Amino acid sequence: MSDAQNGGGQPKSTGPDAMRPVAHESITEQQISNLVETFYDKVWADERLGPIFSGRIADKPAHLAKMKDFWSTMLLGTGRFNGRPMPKHVALSEVVDGDFAIWLGLFRPVAHEAFAPEAAQIVIRTAEQIAQTFRHVMFGGMGGRP
Ligand code: HEM
Repeated sequence: MSDAQNGGGQPKSTGPDAMRPVAHESITEQQISNLVETFYDKVWADERLGPIFSGRIADKPAHLAKMKDFWSTMLLGTGRFNGRPMPKHVALSEVVDGDFAIWLGLFRPVAHEAFAPEAAQIVIRTAEQIAQTFRHVMFGGMGGRP
C-alpha cells in the first residue's frame, strides 16, 4: 500500500500504524475475523461494557470491520487501519480504570479459541500492552483524565 492510500502526508515510519512485521506465521485474516466477531459479541453482551459500546457505536458492523483492519495491521502488518485510538478512548468519560480488566478478561479466552497457542500469547500480549498504554494516559497523570 502506498503512503497516499494509507492516509497520505506522513511517512509510514512516523505514523500511528507504521509497518509492522507479521506477529506469528500461523495468524490468518480468517482467525482475526473470528476473534473480532466473537469478542465484540461478548463485549456487547457484558453488563458493564455493553452499554459503553452500544451507547457510542451506532453501526456495530462498521466498528467490527474497523477492528478487523486494526488487528490485521497489528498482527499481519497490512496497514489497513488508519484511525486514532488514543484520543477516542481518552474521550470515553464513563470508562474507569477497572474496565480494562473486564475488557482483557473477555479478550483472553476468545484469543485462545481463535489462534494457535503460541500466536494467542502474542495477540494477548499485544492487547495487554495497548491497554496498559491507554490506562497510563487516561489514568496515570500523563495529560489524560484529571
Ligand atoms: C475499557 C476498555 C475499552 C473500552 C470501554 C473501549 C471502548 C471503545 C469505544 C466506545 C470505541 C469507539 C470510539 C469512537 O468511535 O468514538 C472504541 C474504539 C476503538 N478501540 Fe476500544 N475500548 C477499550 C479498550 C480497547 C483496547 C484494549 C484496544 C486495543 C487492544 C482498543 C482498540 C480500539 C480501536 C483500535 C478503536 C477504533 C479507534 C478509531 O476509530 O480510531 N480498545 N473503543
